Amino acid sequence: MDPRPDPFDSHSTSPSTGPSTDRPDDRALALPVVLVTGGAQRIGRVIALELARAGWRVALHYRHSADAATRTLAELRAAGGVAAGFAADLAEEAQCEALAPAVVAHFGRLDALVNNASLFELDDVASFGFALMERHWRANTAAPIVLARALARTAAVAPAPSGGRVVVNLVDQKLWNPNPDHLSYTLSKAALEAANTMLAIAFAPALRVCGVAPGITLLSGEMSGPEFDASHRMTPLGRSSTPEDVARAVRFVIESPAITGTTLLVDGGQHLAAQRRDVMFLARDAAPGGATT
Ligand SMILES: NC(=O)c1ccc[n+]([C@@H]2O[C@H](COP(=O)([O-])OP(=O)(O)OC[C@H]3O[C@@H](n4cnc5c(N)ncnc54)[C@H](OP(=O)(O)O)[C@@H]3O)[C@@H](O)[C@H]2O)c1
Repeated sequence: MDPRPDPFDSHSTSPSTGPSTDRPDDRALALPVVLVTGGAQRIGRVIALELARAGWRVALHYRHSADAATRTLAELRAAGGVAAGFAADLAEEAQCEALAPAVVAHFGRLDALVNNASLFELDDVASFGFALMERHWRANTAAPIVLARALARTAAVAPAPSGGRVVVNLVDQKLWNPNPDHLSYTLSKAALEAANTMLAIAFAPALRVCGVAPGITLLSGEMSGPEFDASHRMTPLGRSSTPEDVARAVRFVIESPAITGTTLLVDGGQHLAAQRRDVMFLARDAAPGGATT
């Protein structure tokens, strides 16, 4: 995959695509640019829309979800935003390294990065293996670090956004409430959470590095609708996060110049309630007649 926007691709906003293009001109160049990874759908889409409404030009990264990216780019533009799509498999180091330079080549600047893209596959201690751990590690830990470094290496363009230049890493409330389900995913996010601290030190004062940790937000994996509803009710506030809650938190972090090296939990207090298994299995157990192995 080539992260450069294709001038003839409807996901791209290259100058050659006619009147609806988002060609950087002097006025547009004054607007800051955020790269949202995995932004075609689900939480990433809502983050991209929230930031576009806040005045950010959006580099919308996707991997396989080209059709969803097309729809989200149309939504961003319909909302008055300026946006372009960039495809890359972030588990591939060369594609990951090429992504931020492609965004800068297109927009003329890059000010913020939301590392939202994530692999989420089920394993546990019994099924754990090097191959799945490595796949999680590449997409969920190594890629966000490489992208953050690329942002740090990108020349700042004045005026900087009011919150300064910033990386937001999406982690998971599960790190504060661990259980052995989704073992590889959780380990990869735990490493990313540790990286928040290390990168915040490494990149200060040029960049801030923060985390946002959602609770159960959208149906994922094998979870059913009733299990999803039940898992929300299990949180101390009786509801966990919505994509809009997460997007507002990302925007808050991006706009807050004094925050770095810390993570905001947005989870209805889910992290306060110890859970011995993934909430999907607890909700299944709690259902009438339910029991999981
Ligand atoms: N959903 C929840 O309830 C929840 C709970 C806690 C934390 N979170 C965190 O919040 C963030 C967003 O969650 P989500 O459920 O919306 O995410 P998701 O749907 O599981 O994944 C978002 C996108 O990540 C992209 N992706 C995965 N592997 C990739 C790779 N190797 N290279 C490039 N892109 C890749 C995929 O893009 P393509 O489709 O284009 O391939 C996918 O659409 C994640 O970081 C997640 O860990 C979510």
